[in-house]
Amino acid sequence: MKISHASFTDFGSYGSNGFKVDKILPIRYCSPFMNILAVDTSCDESSVAIISVDEWKLKSDVVRSHIGKMTEYGGVVPEIASREHLKGLPSAISEALTQANLTLKEIDWFVVTSHPGLIGALLVGVGFTKALAFSENKQFSTVNHIEAHLFSPLLCTLEGKTPPPFPWVALVVSGGHTELFHVKGIHDFQWLGGTLDDAAGEAFDKVGKILDMPYPAGPIIDKLVREKATETDRTAYAFPRAKIAPTSFSFSGLKTAVNNQAMKNRPMTEAKKLSLLASCQEAILDPLVDKVRLAQKDFPGAAIVVTGGVACNSRLREKLPEAYFPKPSHCTDNAAMVALLGGLLYKEGKLIHASWDESASPSWNPDVTP
Ligand SMILES: [Fe+2]
Repeated sequence: MKISHASFTDFGSYGSNGFKVDKILPIRYCSPFMNILAVDTSCDESSVAIISVDEWKLKSDVVRSHIGKMTEYGGVVPEIASREHLKGLPSAISEALTQANLTLKEIDWFVVTSHPGLIGALLVGVGFTKALAFSENKQFSTVNHIEAHLFSPLLCTLEGKTPPPFPWVALVVSGGHTELFHVKGIHDFQWLGGTLDDAAGEAFDKVGKILDMPYPAGPIIDKLVREKATETDRTAYAFPRAKIAPTSFSFSGLKTAVNNQAMKNRPMTEAKKLSLLASCQEAILDPLVDKVRLAQKDFPGAAIVVTGGVACNSRLREKLPEAYFPKPSHCTDNAAMVALLGGLLYKEGKLIHASWDESASPSWNPDVTP
């Protein structure tokens, strides 16, 4: 079905930057199809994806990870992440266009993550995407990174697969976030609670650092425990589970407890380290599992959905067999989920053209979604 693009003329407010609206509207599209190019630079991946809304197909999905660079420093260095995006984003965009067999002129709408994330990294993505949209005289919108993660389970619809039906109780769990939501539909969700201190993925990384493991420690711990740990290892240390509100999470006490045990157990043998890691992983995952199931009781019939980088963890998937998880490459940061959110909002008539003076923000107020 061909969409009458020229009918979309309500693009919201433009900024007070001197650009005249009548020089930009009405926008005439070059492509017979509706193509959205999306960019995500919220942390240490320069990601670009293109979807065809008419075909409802992911045309390209490029993720340039800068994690190797960060391993040298034992974590993400925001300044270096920004510089890596500046270097990597142009070629990632070229690669995405090549994969999709499209030219820049055939992109109808440019969508970028503007918040939350590392401010320098976000600014590179927003500035670059806005410049492309402006130079091509095309639409430009910004989206929330957490909302993109939240609806990433719907990426399976681009492959013709059936997604979990709404409503959902959804957990977005990564190195930067541990957030619990009730999701009623597209762009229709309520934040139920989140972490009071460290994110779950951050807890994995901090424990890894205590035990002299490279960054990012989460996937290494998962693999080591899956391949070598026994049930006895998983219960060897009684690490604390914070007794707080049912929709809140806290992992900073766990980090201290692991540090204390590591000090007591010096010199650390491989067997002791394995027990510490296996027990610690259970202490990080148990509250996630327990609290998402508890929240589900308040919304009978809701499906459990888990997204974000920690959703790749094999033990978490084992402990929550009833939950829906996106495929691992779409759990970690990617622009496909941003393109998808753009497409979903467009179909709902809710993809709003951002002001040309729109900027990025490191934070997000979950009480004022999105
Ligand atoms: Fe993320």
